[in-house]
Amino acid sequence: MPEARRFDGKVALITGGASGLGRAVAVRLASEGANVAVADIDEDGGRQTCRLVEGHGRRALLIRADVTKATDAERMVDETVDAFGRLDVLFPSAGTGVGGTVLDTDEEQWDYVVDLDLKGVFLSCKYAIRAMLDSGGGAIVTVSSIGGMQGKAGAAFAAAKAGVVNLTRSMAVAHARQNVRANCICPGWVHTAINDAVLSDPERKAQVADRHPMGRLGTPEEIAAAVAFLASDGASWITGAVLPVDGGYLASGR
Ligand SMILES: NC(=O)c1ccc[n+]([C@@H]2O[C@H](COP(=O)([O-])OP(=O)(O)OC[C@H]3O[C@@H](n4cnc5c(N)ncnc54)[C@H](O)[C@@H]3O)[C@@H](O)[C@H]2O)c1
Repeated sequence: MPEARRFDGKVALITGGASGLGRAVAVRLASEGANVAVADIDEDGGRQTCRLVEGHGRRALLIRADVTKATDAERMVDETVDAFGRLDVLFPSAGTGVGGTVLDTDEEQWDYVVDLDLKGVFLSCKYAIRAMLDSGGGAIVTVSSIGGMQGKAGAAFAAAKAGVVNLTRSMAVAHARQNVRANCICPGWVHTAINDAVLSDPERKAQVADRHPMGRLGTPEEIAAAVAFLASDGASWITGAVLPVDGGYLASGR
């Protein structure tokens, strides 16, 4: 249950907001009072998220944007500020999860994953921070992964998600005195479109669930609860933090 309306009067921009974790965060922040801009390449999914936001009595804005392109990233921030007058929260969730060892990964796959999972976060944050500074500050919550904290994920994904961790710390330090906070979550496995090919097989789903000490996958709503806390004023002295939200996965050393 939302604790309070911690985001009344605030404006959030969610990339990858058409699906999965991005949609859950959009809905959670709207349920606590935020107006939400939903940026994605998937306009149908984005429209559905906007309807869910509006169902909470908040305003929603759909923006078609490819976060790997600087022009799109800049425009999505400009359109958000034009529509809502400010930017307080960024959740740059657009991402992918392709696997494969270094030997299995060709240059094209590497560029796709690193462009989306790392450069897309950099570009989204770059333009969002400028807008936040104009609004007097803001909060960014980036999405790494358990795969960004150990060596079991595919090469490109592991590298990009580790990059997100330290990009977040760098932004936290650079903007700490400007009232812009940046924190990072590392989710364990949550069943979304990104991993449906694996998790739609009940046997594989049970194996994956068993790797988490809690013995189950997370839900998008559990991820959204952590993001909402880090984005809220309740986390006013937390910046540069890296928070596993993973049912104990990283603690187990698995
Ligand atoms: N689901 C998990 O288990 C899990 C675990 C750890 C980290 N993550 C991370 O969480 C983030 C969200 O993943 P999800 O599980 O919600 O997956 P998802 O596939 O449900 O959502 C990803 C969204 O990103 C959008 N997208 C893809 N390319 C884009 C681009 N170039 N520009 C704009 N939008 C684009 C997709 O259209 C989609 O709506 C990703 O960064 C992912 O790596 C997910």
